Amino acid sequence: MWQCPLCASPLSVQTNQPWRCDNGHSFDVAKQGYVNLLPVQFKKSLQPGDDKAMVQAREAFLNAGFYDPLIQAIGADIRTHRGDNTVRSIYDAGCGEGYYLRQLSALLDDPQIVYQGNDIAKNAVIRAAKQAQQHQLTQHQYVVASSFHLPLQSNQIDVLLQIFAPIDSAEALRVLNTGGLWYQVVPNQSHLQEFKAHLYDTVTPHAPQALPDIALVRELDVAFTLTLTSIQKSQLFTMTPYAHSANAIKRALCIDDPSAVTIDFKIFVYQLTAEQE
Ligand SMILES: C[S@@+](CC[C@H](N)C(=O)[O-])C[C@H]1O[C@@H](n2cnc3c(N)ncnc32)[C@H](O)[C@@H]1O
Ligand SMILES: [Zn+2]
Repeated sequence: MWQCPLCASPLSVQTNQPWRCDNGHSFDVAKQGYVNLLPVQFKKSLQPGDDKAMVQAREAFLNAGFYDPLIQAIGADIRTHRGDNTVRSIYDAGCGEGYYLRQLSALLDDPQIVYQGNDIAKNAVIRAAKQAQQHQLTQHQYVVASSFHLPLQSNQIDVLLQIFAPIDSAEALRVLNTGGLWYQVVPNQSHLQEFKAHLYDTVTPHAPQALPDIALVRELDVAFTLTLTSIQKSQLFTMTPYAHSANAIKRALCIDDPSAVTIDFKIFVYQLTAEQE
């Protein structure tokens, strides 16, 4: 259940009505179907999160299916370990334009599951909500909110996704149900190594580390190479932080390089045990 960002009471959600809490706070549903649960006083900048160019590049690149092996690995893991039809809620923190929730709902094909996500970037949430509308995914809900203050009541999420996005780990544990799974996806050592070779004088690969003090139940590695056109490479480049840090010359070197690009993901799978609650 969603939680009021102003007073932490539950929000009641009714079709075509603003979301309201018992203390009189109310949040309009935008025409695209999303709700803004990031009060202006909690915004640290005018347009927090990824900018429009990054969101558009990611949407084009992901919708072409290049990262499908990642969501297939997560979907298979959910089926193997929670294939008992007890998953009712899947939440994506820092969901971007919603690609992974759309793919996961197609993979799991279970109308009993509710898919919800937040992102701090309003333009990303607009795209997530619009695409859910276009695909008539009525069990999907998207909100603008920070993953450092998740607008969710405690202990109700069965599967939490955190894919290349920040989160407050205490918040992640707070919203999970006992037995809930948390998929944290981070770049692994060889991720985009061909770009890095152009961007840095020396590349020192470092292994990602799991969070301490949280029950790590599995680590999954998903690696493959992609042969991309320069337009697709430009999309991939634009959706990374290098889009802001690299100069035009380095960007061109990455995009014009004809080599295949290495994709290397590490998935840490944590589970909330009764002792951790
Ligand atoms: C690299 S993108 C990944 C998006 C999506 N998970 C994916 O893999 O396609 C990182 C996302 O985190 C969002 N983000 C950054 N800080 C955030 C915060 N404090 N709360 C929620 N989202 C945040 C950005 O706006 C962006 O959409
Ligand atoms: Zn309230």
